[in-house]
Amino acid sequence: MEYQNILFEIRNKIAFVTINRPDKLNALNGATLNELKDCFTAIKNNNEVNVTIITGAGEKAFVAGADISELNKLNTVAGKIFAENGQEVFNLIEKLGKPVIAAINGFALGGGCELALACHIRIANEKAKFGQPEVNLGIIPGYGGTQRLTRLINSGRAAEMILSGELIDASDALRIGLVNKIYSSEELMTKAVEMAEKISSKGQIAVQMALRAIVSCDDISEMEGQNLESSLFALCCGTEDFKEGTSAFLEKRKPNFKNL
Ligand code: COA
Repeated sequence: MEYQNILFEIRNKIAFVTINRPDKLNALNGATLNELKDCFTAIKNNNEVNVTIITGAGEKAFVAGADISELNKLNTVAGKIFAENGQEVFNLIEKLGKPVIAAINGFALGGGCELALACHIRIANEKAKFGQPEVNLGIIPGYGGTQRLTRLINSGRAAEMILSGELIDASDALRIGLVNKIYSSEELMTKAVEMAEKISSKGQIAVQMALRAIVSCDDISEMEGQNLESSLFALCCGTEDFKEGTSAFLEKRKPNFKNL
């Protein structure tokens, strides 16, 4: 598929996905969502990608939400399909099986905040602003925000953001655990790449099993989760990487993981 609304490249086992509609503050229209679906499906199936970084083009925005010019035309039936379509793409990202880092470089509003929430690690620059302003438009978040935001930052804080539609700045987002770290605009991508490279240098079977256990948390009970964890732990114990990692420690050398 030829991409018109996103940039996509793979360098050194890291995939870089950039939403590229800066004149519309990277608002997610249907075409952009379709491209994201295609691109993340390719990433999922590409063994040459260990980690993905997603960001927005331009100086102002990560993603300023779903495209309001398309929202404006929805009716009840189309609204259900519209929300399910976005949920499907964001579920694909969350359940990708490989880590996705959101490098949030400005406004992350509505669907943009929800996109960040579907990623596994969120870092931001100091200009970033977060919000679920859908109530201002007479709707509610439809791309998983009511669920993921509530689980991440607790129901009281999520209710305040979703019901008031107010934006919060990067330091508040850090304080409530919506992002892990804040960097200057100049540093953000360098830090995202450093984090991606660090994860990419580990044995990828262990990284992917750990991620699988973490992501399952939202879907299953504590005891089911612990059962899954012990099974995934056991799977790791059968890998060459496990033998290599433990032997390297005992032999006081760096491990050479082969993802086997
Ligand atoms: N959908 C469609 N277009 C959008 C958009 C969105 N979610 N967010 C911004 N844009 C467009 C604007 O219409 C404008 O386009 P134009 O130049 O053709 O008129 C362009 O992006 C720049 O936005 P503008 O509003 O002029 O920038 P600003 O710096 O004054 O304000 C925001 C920035 C983010 C505060 C403001 O754009 C905004 O409130 N956007 C909508 C946020 C929202 O409600 N998102 C949730 C949608 S569910």
